[in-house]
Amino acid sequence: MAKRTVEVDVDEHGAFNGAELKQQGVVSYDQPLLSTATARSAITYIDGDAGILRYRGYPIEQIAERLHFLQVAYLLAHGELAPEDERQSFRRAVYDAEVDVERIDAHVNSFPVDSHPMAILISGYAALGASHPEAKHVKDAEMRKRLFPLVLAETLELGARAIARHAGVEPGRQTGDSYARRFLEVCGDAIDRARGEEAVEVFGRALDVLFVLHADHELNAGTNAMRAIGSAETDMYSSLAGAAAALYGPLHGGANEAVLRMLDSIGSLDNVAGYIERVKTHEVLLYGFGHRVYKNYDPRATVIKKVVDEVLETAGANPLLDIAQELERIALEDDYFVSRKLYPNVDFYSGIAYRAIGFDPATFTVLFAVARTVGWLCHYDELMSGEFKITRPAQVYVGKGERPVPKRA
Ligand code: CMC
Repeated sequence: MAKRTVEVDVDEHGAFNGAELKQQGVVSYDQPLLSTATARSAITYIDGDAGILRYRGYPIEQIAERLHFLQVAYLLAHGELAPEDERQSFRRAVYDAEVDVERIDAHVNSFPVDSHPMAILISGYAALGASHPEAKHVKDAEMRKRLFPLVLAETLELGARAIARHAGVEPGRQTGDSYARRFLEVCGDAIDRARGEEAVEVFGRALDVLFVLHADHELNAGTNAMRAIGSAETDMYSSLAGAAAALYGPLHGGANEAVLRMLDSIGSLDNVAGYIERVKTHEVLLYGFGHRVYKNYDPRATVIKKVVDEVLETAGANPLLDIAQELERIALEDDYFVSRKLYPNVDFYSGIAYRAIGFDPATFTVLFAVARTVGWLCHYDELMSGEFKITRPAQVYVGKGERPVPKRA
Protein backbone atom coordinates (compact mmCIF):
# COMPACT_ATOMS: atom_id res chain seq x y z
CA MET A 1 0.00 0.00 0.00
CA ALA A 2 1.50 3.34 -1.06
CA LYS A 3 1.43 6.32 1.27
CA ARG A 4 0.28 9.63 -0.18
CA THR A 5 -0.28 12.91 1.54
CA VAL A 6 -3.11 15.12 0.37
CA GLU A 7 -4.07 18.51 1.75
CA VAL A 8 -7.65 19.69 2.20
CA ASP A 9 -9.31 22.68 3.87
CA VAL A 10 -11.31 21.77 6.98
CA ASP A 11 -14.24 23.99 8.02
CA GLU A 12 -15.42 24.94 11.53
CA HIS A 13 -17.44 21.68 11.76
CA GLY A 14 -14.35 19.55 11.07
CA ALA A 15 -15.62 18.77 7.54
CA PHE A 16 -13.78 19.02 4.26
CA ASN A 17 -15.28 18.97 0.79
CA GLY A 18 -14.92 15.39 -0.50
CA ALA A 19 -14.67 16.69 -4.06
CA GLU A 20 -11.23 18.07 -3.10
CA LEU A 21 -9.99 14.49 -2.61
CA LYS A 22 -11.21 13.51 -6.06
CA GLN A 23 -9.48 16.51 -7.60
CA GLN A 24 -6.26 15.21 -6.04
CA GLY A 25 -6.82 11.74 -7.51
CA VAL A 26 -7.85 9.82 -4.36
CA VAL A 27 -11.17 8.63 -2.92
CA SER A 28 -12.01 7.56 0.61
CA TYR A 29 -13.21 3.95 0.87
CA ASP A 30 -16.02 4.21 3.43
CA GLN A 31 -18.71 1.55 2.84
CA PRO A 32 -20.51 2.17 6.18
CA LEU A 33 -20.16 5.96 5.72
CA LEU A 34 -18.37 6.17 9.07
CA SER A 35 -16.71 9.46 8.28
CA THR A 36 -18.64 10.64 5.26
CA ALA A 37 -21.29 13.29 5.83
CA THR A 38 -23.93 13.37 3.10
CA ALA A 39 -25.91 16.30 4.50
CA ARG A 40 -25.61 19.63 6.24
CA SER A 41 -28.67 19.45 8.43
CA ALA A 42 -30.27 21.72 11.04
CA ILE A 43 -32.92 19.25 12.20
CA THR A 44 -31.48 16.89 14.83
CA TYR A 45 -28.29 17.03 16.89
CA ILE A 46 -26.64 13.97 18.47
CA ASP A 47 -23.55 13.79 20.65
CA GLY A 48 -23.07 10.04 20.82
CA ASP A 49 -20.29 10.08 23.41
CA ALA A 50 -22.29 12.21 25.82
CA GLY A 51 -25.63 10.49 25.08
CA ILE A 52 -27.27 13.74 23.91
CA LEU A 53 -30.17 13.99 21.45
CA ARG A 54 -31.90 17.26 20.53
CA TYR A 55 -34.64 18.08 18.04
CA ARG A 56 -34.11 21.61 16.69
CA GLY A 57 -32.04 22.37 19.79
CA TYR A 58 -34.53 21.07 22.38
CA PRO A 59 -33.36 18.13 24.60
CA ILE A 60 -35.27 14.91 23.90
CA GLU A 61 -36.03 14.34 27.60
CA GLN A 62 -37.91 17.67 27.82
CA ILE A 63 -39.60 17.10 24.47
CA ALA A 64 -40.84 13.65 25.53
CA GLU A 65 -42.25 15.08 28.75
CA ARG A 66 -43.87 18.23 27.37
CA LEU A 67 -44.84 17.79 23.73
CA HIS A 68 -47.27 15.58 21.82
CA PHE A 69 -46.27 13.84 18.61
CA LEU A 70 -47.91 16.33 16.25
CA GLN A 71 -46.28 19.26 18.08
CA VAL A 72 -42.97 17.48 17.53
CA ALA A 73 -43.82 16.91 13.87
CA TYR A 74 -44.50 20.63 13.49
CA LEU A 75 -41.30 21.53 15.34
CA LEU A 76 -39.15 19.23 13.21
CA ALA A 77 -40.73 20.51 9.99
CA HIS A 78 -40.78 24.23 10.79
CA GLY A 79 -37.78 24.57 13.09
CA GLU A 80 -39.85 26.27 15.81
CA LEU A 81 -42.63 25.28 18.19
CA ALA A 82 -46.07 26.04 16.80
CA PRO A 83 -47.89 29.07 18.20
CA GLU A 84 -51.24 28.01 19.76
CA ASP A 85 -53.43 28.84 16.70
CA GLU A 86 -51.09 27.10 14.26
CA ARG A 87 -50.88 24.11 16.57
CA GLN A 88 -54.64 23.68 16.29
CA SER A 89 -54.74 24.24 12.55
CA PHE A 90 -51.88 21.79 11.95
CA ARG A 91 -53.70 19.18 14.03
CA ARG A 92 -56.88 19.75 12.07
CA ALA A 93 -54.96 19.59 8.79
CA VAL A 94 -53.80 16.07 9.77
CA TYR A 95 -57.08 14.86 11.27
CA ASP A 96 -59.31 16.30 8.52
CA ALA A 97 -57.01 15.48 5.58
CA GLU A 98 -58.79 13.88 2.65
CA VAL A 99 -57.31 10.41 2.77
CA ASP A 100 -58.45 7.94 0.13
CA VAL A 101 -59.15 5.19 2.65
CA GLU A 102 -60.86 2.99 0.05
CA ARG A 103 -57.72 2.97 -2.03
CA ILE A 104 -55.57 2.19 1.01
CA ASP A 105 -57.93 -0.64 1.94
CA ALA A 106 -57.77 -2.07 -1.57
CA HIS A 107 -53.97 -2.10 -1.29
CA VAL A 108 -53.87 -3.55 2.22
CA ASN A 109 -56.50 -6.20 1.51
CA SER A 110 -54.66 -7.39 -1.59
CA PHE A 111 -52.18 -9.01 0.82
CA PRO A 112 -52.81 -12.39 2.50
CA VAL A 113 -53.74 -11.98 6.19
CA ASP A 114 -50.43 -13.29 7.56
CA SER A 115 -48.28 -10.98 5.37
CA HIS A 116 -45.60 -9.05 7.17
CA PRO A 117 -47.10 -5.58 7.73
CA MET A 118 -43.82 -3.89 6.73
CA ALA A 119 -44.25 -5.37 3.24
CA ILE A 120 -47.70 -3.76 3.13
CA LEU A 121 -46.37 -0.43 4.40
CA ILE A 122 -43.36 -0.23 2.08
CA SER A 123 -45.39 -1.03 -1.02
CA GLY A 124 -48.23 1.13 0.30
CA TYR A 125 -46.07 4.25 0.17
CA ALA A 126 -45.18 3.56 -3.46
CA ALA A 127 -48.84 2.87 -4.26
CA LEU A 128 -49.94 6.15 -2.64
CA GLY A 129 -47.49 7.97 -4.88
CA ALA A 130 -49.58 6.94 -7.88
CA SER A 131 -52.48 8.97 -6.42
CA HIS A 132 -50.35 12.10 -6.08
CA PRO A 133 -48.67 12.95 -9.41
CA GLU A 134 -48.14 16.50 -8.08
CA ALA A 135 -45.46 15.04 -5.76
CA LYS A 136 -43.23 14.71 -8.83
CA HIS A 137 -42.70 18.49 -8.78
CA VAL A 138 -40.10 17.91 -6.10
CA LYS A 139 -38.80 21.50 -6.02
CA ASP A 140 -42.26 22.94 -5.35
CA ALA A 141 -41.95 24.01 -1.69
CA GLU A 142 -45.64 24.91 -1.42
CA MET A 143 -46.61 21.41 -2.64
CA ARG A 144 -44.29 19.77 -0.08
CA LYS A 145 -45.74 21.90 2.72
CA ARG A 146 -49.31 21.03 1.64
CA LEU A 147 -48.62 17.31 1.43
CA PHE A 148 -46.88 17.09 4.84
CA PRO A 149 -50.07 16.80 6.98
CA LEU A 150 -51.73 14.67 4.30
CA VAL A 151 -48.88 12.14 4.27
CA LEU A 152 -49.03 11.94 8.08
CA ALA A 153 -52.77 11.26 7.82
CA GLU A 154 -52.24 8.64 5.10
CA THR A 155 -49.46 7.04 7.14
CA LEU A 156 -51.78 6.71 10.13
CA GLU A 157 -54.39 4.89 8.04
CA LEU A 158 -51.91 2.80 6.05
CA GLY A 159 -49.80 1.72 9.05
CA ALA A 160 -52.76 0.94 11.32
CA ARG A 161 -54.64 -0.90 8.57
CA ALA A 162 -51.53 -2.97 7.77
CA ILE A 163 -51.41 -3.95 11.45
CA ALA A 164 -55.14 -4.79 11.53
CA ARG A 165 -54.75 -6.86 8.36
CA HIS A 166 -51.85 -8.79 9.88
CA ALA A 167 -54.00 -9.56 12.93
CA GLY A 168 -56.94 -10.52 10.70
CA VAL A 169 -59.25 -7.96 12.33
CA GLU A 170 -61.44 -5.15 10.97
CA PRO A 171 -59.83 -1.70 11.16
CA GLY A 172 -61.61 0.85 13.37
CA ARG A 173 -62.40 4.54 12.80
CA GLN A 174 -60.26 7.45 13.99
CA THR A 175 -61.42 8.91 17.31
CA GLY A 176 -59.49 10.53 20.14
CA ASP A 177 -57.44 13.63 20.70
CA SER A 178 -53.94 12.51 19.82
CA TYR A 179 -52.33 11.03 16.72
CA ALA A 180 -51.28 7.93 18.66
CA ARG A 181 -54.73 7.43 20.20
CA ARG A 182 -56.36 7.69 16.77
CA PHE A 183 -53.80 5.25 15.43
CA LEU A 184 -54.76 2.74 18.12
CA GLU A 185 -58.43 3.09 17.19
CA VAL A 186 -57.75 2.26 13.54
CA CYS A 187 -55.74 -0.80 14.68
CA GLY A 188 -59.07 -2.16 16.01
CA ASP A 189 -58.73 -5.39 17.99
CA ALA A 190 -55.10 -5.83 16.92
CA ILE A 191 -54.37 -4.30 20.35
CA ASP A 192 -55.45 -5.48 23.81
CA ARG A 193 -58.84 -3.93 24.63
CA ALA A 194 -59.76 -6.41 27.37
CA ARG A 195 -58.83 -3.96 30.14
CA GLY A 196 -61.29 -1.32 28.95
CA GLU A 197 -61.21 2.26 27.70
CA GLU A 198 -59.05 3.62 30.50
CA ALA A 199 -56.31 1.14 29.68
CA VAL A 200 -56.47 2.09 25.98
CA GLU A 201 -56.16 5.73 27.07
CA VAL A 202 -52.93 4.85 28.96
CA PHE A 203 -51.67 2.91 25.91
CA GLY A 204 -52.42 5.93 23.69
CA ARG A 205 -50.35 8.23 25.91
CA ALA A 206 -47.49 5.71 25.99
CA LEU A 207 -47.56 5.27 22.21
CA ASP A 208 -47.51 9.05 21.76
CA VAL A 209 -44.25 9.24 23.74
CA LEU A 210 -42.79 6.34 21.74
CA PHE A 211 -43.74 8.10 18.50
CA VAL A 212 -42.05 11.29 19.78
CA LEU A 213 -38.83 9.39 20.55
CA HIS A 214 -38.77 7.81 17.09
CA ALA A 215 -39.69 10.92 15.07
CA ASP A 216 -36.17 11.70 13.87
CA HIS A 217 -32.61 10.58 14.43
CA GLU A 218 -30.49 12.44 11.86
CA LEU A 219 -28.70 10.36 9.24
CA ASN A 220 -29.53 6.75 10.07
CA ALA A 221 -29.79 4.17 7.26
CA GLY A 222 -33.46 4.93 6.52
CA THR A 223 -33.01 8.70 6.41
CA ASN A 224 -29.88 8.33 4.29
CA ALA A 225 -31.95 6.23 1.88
CA MET A 226 -34.66 8.92 1.84
CA ARG A 227 -32.12 11.59 0.94
CA ALA A 228 -30.22 9.44 -1.53
CA ILE A 229 -33.40 8.49 -3.40
CA GLY A 230 -34.66 12.08 -3.20
CA SER A 231 -31.38 13.29 -4.70
CA ALA A 232 -32.45 11.63 -7.96
CA GLU A 233 -35.47 14.02 -7.81
CA THR A 234 -37.72 11.07 -7.02
CA ASP A 235 -41.11 11.96 -5.52
CA MET A 236 -41.54 11.84 -1.74
CA TYR A 237 -43.81 8.76 -1.72
CA SER A 238 -41.38 6.56 -3.65
CA SER A 239 -38.57 7.91 -1.47
CA LEU A 240 -40.58 6.95 1.64
CA ALA A 241 -40.91 3.40 0.29
CA GLY A 242 -37.12 3.20 0.03
CA ALA A 243 -36.56 4.71 3.47
CA ALA A 244 -39.05 2.28 5.04
CA ALA A 245 -37.33 -0.64 3.29
CA ALA A 246 -34.00 0.38 4.84
CA LEU A 247 -35.65 0.65 8.25
CA TYR A 248 -37.08 -2.89 7.92
CA GLY A 249 -33.68 -4.58 8.44
CA PRO A 250 -32.93 -6.17 11.85
CA LEU A 251 -29.79 -4.04 12.29
CA HIS A 252 -31.96 -0.90 12.05
CA GLY A 253 -35.69 -0.51 12.87
CA GLY A 254 -36.33 -4.23 12.58
CA ALA A 255 -34.29 -4.64 15.77
CA ASN A 256 -37.39 -4.02 17.95
CA GLU A 257 -39.01 -7.15 16.48
CA ALA A 258 -35.71 -9.05 16.75
CA VAL A 259 -35.39 -8.10 20.45
CA LEU A 260 -38.79 -9.56 21.29
CA ARG A 261 -38.05 -12.76 19.37
CA MET A 262 -34.66 -12.96 21.17
CA LEU A 263 -36.29 -12.51 24.60
CA ASP A 264 -38.91 -15.14 23.72
CA SER A 265 -36.20 -17.56 22.61
CA ILE A 266 -34.20 -17.02 25.82
CA GLY A 267 -37.40 -17.90 27.65
CA SER A 268 -36.27 -17.71 31.29
CA LEU A 269 -33.77 -16.02 33.57
CA ASP A 270 -31.78 -19.27 33.78
CA ASN A 271 -30.86 -19.00 30.10
CA VAL A 272 -29.64 -15.39 30.16
CA ALA A 273 -25.99 -16.08 31.05
CA GLY A 274 -25.80 -18.78 28.34
CA TYR A 275 -27.15 -16.34 25.73
CA ILE A 276 -24.57 -13.72 26.72
CA GLU A 277 -21.82 -16.32 26.22
CA ARG A 278 -23.10 -17.01 22.68
CA VAL A 279 -23.09 -13.25 21.99
CA LYS A 280 -19.46 -13.02 23.09
CA THR A 281 -18.40 -15.72 20.65
CA HIS A 282 -20.19 -13.78 17.86
CA GLU A 283 -22.63 -16.65 17.40
CA VAL A 284 -25.64 -14.37 17.97
CA LEU A 285 -26.24 -10.64 18.44
CA LEU A 286 -27.61 -8.99 21.52
CA TYR A 287 -30.39 -7.19 19.65
CA GLY A 288 -31.28 -3.78 21.05
CA PHE A 289 -27.66 -3.17 22.08
CA GLY A 290 -25.03 -1.07 20.38
CA HIS A 291 -25.33 1.92 18.11
CA ARG A 292 -23.29 3.48 15.35
CA VAL A 293 -23.39 6.90 17.01
CA TYR A 294 -24.10 6.35 20.72
CA LYS A 295 -21.10 5.12 22.66
CA ASN A 296 -23.05 5.81 25.82
CA TYR A 297 -26.58 5.08 27.03
CA ASP A 298 -29.10 5.93 24.27
CA PRO A 299 -31.10 8.79 25.89
CA ARG A 300 -34.27 7.43 24.26
CA ALA A 301 -33.82 4.09 26.06
CA THR A 302 -33.89 5.90 29.42
CA VAL A 303 -37.24 7.53 28.60
CA ILE A 304 -38.63 4.27 27.19
CA LYS A 305 -37.87 2.43 30.43
CA LYS A 306 -40.27 4.81 32.22
CA VAL A 307 -42.90 4.26 29.51
CA VAL A 308 -42.55 0.49 29.96
CA ASP A 309 -43.16 0.85 33.72
CA GLU A 310 -46.30 2.91 33.10
CA VAL A 311 -47.70 0.50 30.52
CA LEU A 312 -46.98 -2.59 32.62
CA GLU A 313 -48.71 -0.98 35.60
CA THR A 314 -51.87 -1.09 33.48
CA ALA A 315 -51.24 -4.23 31.43
CA GLY A 316 -49.73 -6.38 34.20
CA ALA A 317 -46.19 -7.68 34.70
CA ASN A 318 -44.35 -9.27 31.79
CA PRO A 319 -41.62 -11.86 32.49
CA LEU A 320 -39.80 -10.69 29.34
CA LEU A 321 -38.97 -7.48 31.20
CA ASP A 322 -37.13 -9.48 33.86
CA ILE A 323 -35.13 -11.22 31.13
CA ALA A 324 -34.33 -7.88 29.44
CA GLN A 325 -33.23 -6.33 32.74
CA GLU A 326 -31.01 -9.29 33.53
CA LEU A 327 -29.43 -9.11 30.06
CA GLU A 328 -28.77 -5.43 30.59
CA ARG A 329 -27.37 -5.96 34.10
CA ILE A 330 -24.89 -8.61 32.93
CA ALA A 331 -23.96 -6.77 29.74
CA LEU A 332 -23.22 -3.48 31.49
CA GLU A 333 -20.69 -5.27 33.75
CA ASP A 334 -19.12 -7.54 31.14
CA ASP A 335 -15.87 -6.49 29.49
CA TYR A 336 -17.08 -7.60 26.02
CA PHE A 337 -19.80 -4.92 26.10
CA VAL A 338 -17.96 -2.35 28.24
CA SER A 339 -14.84 -2.32 26.05
CA ARG A 340 -16.93 -1.97 22.89
CA LYS A 341 -19.15 0.71 24.49
CA LEU A 342 -22.32 -1.28 23.81
CA TYR A 343 -25.38 0.05 25.66
CA PRO A 344 -29.13 -0.52 25.28
CA ASN A 345 -30.52 1.42 22.31
CA VAL A 346 -34.03 2.64 21.50
CA ASP A 347 -35.13 -0.84 20.43
CA PHE A 348 -34.17 -2.74 23.58
CA TYR A 349 -37.20 -1.87 25.71
CA SER A 350 -39.67 -0.44 23.17
CA GLY A 351 -40.88 -3.91 22.14
CA ILE A 352 -41.88 -4.71 25.71
CA ALA A 353 -44.11 -1.63 25.75
CA TYR A 354 -45.58 -2.48 22.33
CA ARG A 355 -46.19 -6.08 23.42
CA ALA A 356 -47.96 -4.93 26.59
CA ILE A 357 -50.26 -2.77 24.45
CA GLY A 358 -51.09 -5.99 22.60
CA PHE A 359 -49.16 -5.49 19.34
CA ASP A 360 -47.71 -8.57 17.66
CA PRO A 361 -43.88 -8.40 17.30
CA ALA A 362 -44.21 -8.41 13.49
CA THR A 363 -45.92 -5.02 13.73
CA PHE A 364 -43.28 -3.25 15.83
CA THR A 365 -41.25 -1.91 12.93
CA VAL A 366 -44.40 -0.42 11.41
CA LEU A 367 -44.82 1.59 14.63
CA PHE A 368 -41.24 2.84 14.27
CA ALA A 369 -41.80 3.68 10.58
CA VAL A 370 -45.03 5.57 11.22
CA ALA A 371 -43.22 7.89 13.64
CA ARG A 372 -40.04 8.17 11.54
CA THR A 373 -42.07 9.25 8.51
CA VAL A 374 -41.97 12.72 10.07
CA GLY A 375 -38.17 12.75 10.07
CA TRP A 376 -37.96 11.34 6.56
CA LEU A 377 -40.25 14.05 5.21
CA CYS A 378 -38.34 16.81 7.03
CA HIS A 379 -35.01 15.60 5.65
CA TYR A 380 -36.52 15.35 2.18
CA ASP A 381 -37.79 18.91 2.49
CA GLU A 382 -34.42 20.15 3.75
CA LEU A 383 -32.71 18.45 0.81
CA MET A 384 -35.12 19.90 -1.76
CA SER A 385 -34.87 23.38 -0.21
CA GLY A 386 -31.14 23.63 -0.85
CA GLU A 387 -28.55 22.95 -3.50
CA PHE A 388 -27.79 19.30 -4.14
CA LYS A 389 -26.47 16.88 -6.70
CA ILE A 390 -27.49 13.29 -7.21
CA THR A 391 -25.95 11.03 -4.51
CA ARG A 392 -23.70 8.83 -6.57
CA PRO A 393 -20.81 7.33 -4.63
CA ALA A 394 -17.48 6.33 -6.11
CA GLN A 395 -16.42 2.71 -6.11
CA VAL A 396 -13.02 1.08 -5.76
CA TYR A 397 -12.94 -1.39 -8.66
CA VAL A 398 -11.27 -4.68 -7.71
CA GLY A 399 -12.41 -6.84 -10.67
CA LYS A 400 -10.66 -8.16 -13.77
CA GLY A 401 -8.89 -5.92 -16.27
CA GLU A 402 -10.04 -5.87 -19.89
CA ARG A 403 -10.03 -9.31 -21.55
CA PRO A 404 -11.45 -10.64 -24.83
CA VAL A 405 -14.60 -12.80 -24.96
CA PRO A 406 -13.54 -16.13 -26.56
CA LYS A 407 -14.80 -16.35 -30.18
CA ARG A 408 -16.71 -19.59 -29.42
CA ALA A 409 -18.11 -18.69 -25.97
N1 CMC B 1 -24.29 -7.65 20.04
C1 CMC B 1 -23.04 -8.19 20.06
N2 CMC B 1 -21.95 -7.57 19.58
C2 CMC B 1 -22.12 -6.36 19.06
C3 CMC B 1 -23.38 -5.73 19.01
C4 CMC B 1 -24.48 -6.43 19.52
N3 CMC B 1 -25.70 -5.88 19.50
N4 CMC B 1 -23.24 -4.53 18.42
C5 CMC B 1 -21.95 -4.39 18.12
N5 CMC B 1 -21.27 -5.49 18.51
C6 CMC B 1 -19.82 -5.73 18.40
C7 CMC B 1 -19.42 -6.01 16.95
O1 CMC B 1 -19.50 -7.39 16.68
C8 CMC B 1 -18.02 -5.50 16.96
O2 CMC B 1 -17.21 -6.45 17.63
P1 CMC B 1 -15.69 -6.74 17.11
O3 CMC B 1 -14.95 -5.46 17.40
O4 CMC B 1 -15.25 -7.90 17.94
O5 CMC B 1 -15.80 -7.06 15.66
C9 CMC B 1 -18.06 -4.26 17.85
O6 CMC B 1 -19.17 -4.50 18.74
C10 CMC B 1 -18.30 -2.97 17.10
O7 CMC B 1 -19.53 -3.07 16.42
P2 CMC B 1 -19.78 -2.61 14.93
O8 CMC B 1 -20.44 -3.72 14.18
O9 CMC B 1 -18.53 -2.03 14.35
O10 CMC B 1 -20.82 -1.43 15.15
P3 CMC B 1 -21.62 -0.68 14.03
O11 CMC B 1 -21.60 0.75 14.38
O12 CMC B 1 -21.17 -1.04 12.65
O13 CMC B 1 -23.10 -1.29 14.18
C11 CMC B 1 -25.26 -1.68 15.03
C12 CMC B 1 -24.11 -0.68 14.91
C13 CMC B 1 -26.44 -0.96 15.66
C14 CMC B 1 -25.67 -2.16 13.63
C15 CMC B 1 -24.80 -2.85 15.92
O14 CMC B 1 -24.50 -2.40 17.21
C16 CMC B 1 -25.86 -3.96 16.00
O15 CMC B 1 -25.89 -4.83 15.13
N6 CMC B 1 -26.74 -3.94 17.05
C17 CMC B 1 -27.80 -4.92 17.13
C18 CMC B 1 -28.99 -4.49 16.26
C19 CMC B 1 -29.71 -3.30 16.85
O16 CMC B 1 -30.05 -3.27 18.03
N7 CMC B 1 -29.99 -2.32 15.97
C20 CMC B 1 -30.74 -1.12 16.38
C21 CMC B 1 -29.88 0.10 16.34
S1 CMC B 1 -30.64 1.52 17.12
C22 CMC B 1 -32.06 1.90 16.26
C23 CMC B 1 -31.97 2.01 14.79
O17 CMC B 1 -30.96 2.34 14.19
O18 CMC B 1 -32.99 1.74 14.18
